[in-house]
Amino acid sequence: MRELIDRLAQEHTLTQQEFIDLLENRDAALDEYLFQRAAAVRQEVFGKQVYLRGLIEFTNYCKNDCYYCGIRRSNREAQRYRLGEGEILACCREGYGLGFRTFVLQGGEDPYFTTARMCALVETIKREFPDCAVTLSIGERPREDYQAMFDAGADRYLLRHETADDAHYRLLHPADMSLENRKRCLWDLKAIGYQVGCGMMVGSPGQTAAHLAEDLLFIRELEPQMVGIGPFIPQHSTPFAVKPAGTLEMTLFLLGLLRLMLPRLLLPATTALGTIHPQGRELGILAGANVCMPNLSPVSVRKKYALYDNKICTGDESAQCRGCLEARLASIGYEAVVGRGDHPDFI
Ligand code: 5AD
Ligand code: FES
Repeated sequence: MRELIDRLAQEHTLTQQEFIDLLENRDAALDEYLFQRAAAVRQEVFGKQVYLRGLIEFTNYCKNDCYYCGIRRSNREAQRYRLGEGEILACCREGYGLGFRTFVLQGGEDPYFTTARMCALVETIKREFPDCAVTLSIGERPREDYQAMFDAGADRYLLRHETADDAHYRLLHPADMSLENRKRCLWDLKAIGYQVGCGMMVGSPGQTAAHLAEDLLFIRELEPQMVGIGPFIPQHSTPFAVKPAGTLEMTLFLLGLLRLMLPRLLLPATTALGTIHPQGRELGILAGANVCMPNLSPVSVRKKYALYDNKICTGDESAQCRGCLEARLASIGYEAVVGRGDHPDFI
């Protein structure tokens, strides 16, 4: 298996069967080998720097009904909230003071936040913070809408593809959603000029090594600037409440593979990874990740953005995720940096 990892580092891709072999035969020794190679590649491109983004979860209303997600529209238990423009700007001001130069506006697919409202919001943020990047993560929209928000000043867009396999996509989503449209969105975002992020959950119900290999090949083809991956974690009031969670080990392994496949990738150590293991995010960095996205949302709403159970950084202690993460990164020899943290191709 080591020769496959060597070849991935050299050629930046493998066949689907080779990816499957790696995923099905990984063990602790192979993990170590992969993480060392991935860390060396990341060191060459980014040194010991880890980029921070201030995450603002500004609405948990959602018109979609994805079976895995705690803020799906059918979840009557979800306590819905939506931040006003003033509250969002207050989060940005606080974040700016803490050193954040990227704000990630993430929300459910909330019809209240029309493209006109989003454009106005982006323009206001960019006017007050011209040295900051704005990342949007608000789901599927028509191409013209993506274009309008880009013209309003949005720099980046996160939209996980969730799975690159059509049948698996249909197992995770109701019939009114399609992988085809998800991919169309991602290609449109790329063509418009956004720095684009896709990604998938690791260990989602029904997922096989072949599905993950398809994910890797789709990512290879799309060549996004960012990839967000984290373990699937069940949420108690969804149809997948009793499904097993994804594992730390498989998530870390995929982070390592992604680093070798796309050396300049912006790759976050996600909150879900930090949720399934107390040192999940630190281990993610050591496996090849180079981004952390601490929560900047008002503490009063954080528990309500409950995509999955036991999410970290939602209690009173989390008012200061910035300092917490800085200390965590320092403890493993990494440095949280102030700056936009653009993909190297966009500097
Ligand atoms: N476990 C882990 N990740 C989840 N997401 C949604 N629900 C869950 C869950 N139960 C992820 C999806 C989505 C992102 C915002 O959060 O991948 O794209
Ligand atoms: Fe949020 Fe540590 S990063 S509490």
